[in-house]
Amino acid sequence: MKTIKNIFGPKEEDIQLDMENIPRHVAIIMDGNGRWAKKRGLPRTAGHKAGIEVLREVIKASSELKIEFLTLYAFSTENWKRPKEEVSALMKLLVYYLQKEVKELHKNKVRIRTIGDITQLPHQVIGQIHKAVDLTKNNKGLTVNIALNYGGRDEIIRAVKNIWKENMEGNICIENMDEEKFSTYLDTGHLPDPDLLIRPSGEFRTSNFLLWQLAYAEFWFSNIYWPDFDKKHLYMAIRDYQMRHRRFGGLK
Ligand code: IPE
Ligand code: IPE
Ligand code: MG
Repeated sequence: MKTIKNIFGPKEEDIQLDMENIPRHVAIIMDGNGRWAKKRGLPRTAGHKAGIEVLREVIKASSELKIEFLTLYAFSTENWKRPKEEVSALMKLLVYYLQKEVKELHKNKVRIRTIGDITQLPHQVIGQIHKAVDLTKNNKGLTVNIALNYGGRDEIIRAVKNIWKENMEGNICIENMDEEKFSTYLDTGHLPDPDLLIRPSGEFRTSNFLLWQLAYAEFWFSNIYWPDFDKKHLYMAIRDYQMRHRRFGGLK
């Protein structure tokens, strides 16, 4: 049975969602901050700042829709190639965001987690992450999973190394390895695969995001830059998702 909710109420633009068919796991590539800033004659860091402000609304809307997992691509293994001033500004913004928002997120029952090799991040960032993850670990609401120093290929290599180590120590038998077991060695071992991937900014690529996990995700692209993204775009993405026929290689 479909439970249709008119998300903006009768007066606003009509976006109807089937509340019985909300994606469990939504992943977002938060892209376009730099171009957003350039368009306004501002430094790229102003774009990153504006990008962080969007999170509050997107997280709130995701919680309201009862999405279970929201994975946010915040810093890739390739983003270290950027000028060191930009990297350092991004790291500072992360600390600022976590310090400023964690109490409110905790109040809203959000559980914060990360994927990616966070050991390579600056100490201050690691400290803030541990604090936020620890404070919110028992929360039962939306899980916000932040991808930091994350790369799909790097994640697979780290998984393979761990499997090799366990095999050498005699803890596992490599012959028994299958897709399900392999998944548990990935950083996302605690998560179901994403149902929906959202990428704003007009690029049509994964940029090394969740390479294994996106095998059967539905993709939603948009030209708007991330700082202009709001809950309406999230609703639009979910509405389009609900019109897709997911077959997983089988027949309808
Ligand atoms: C995304 O915005 C933020 C990060 C990659 C950290 P960009 O900085 O990539 O913005 P564009 O793509 O240059 O506009
Ligand atoms: C992907 O965006 C990474 C994040 C949003 C964190 P990029 O801007 O780094 O991707 P490319 O370089 O356009 O592929
Ligand atoms: Mg970009």
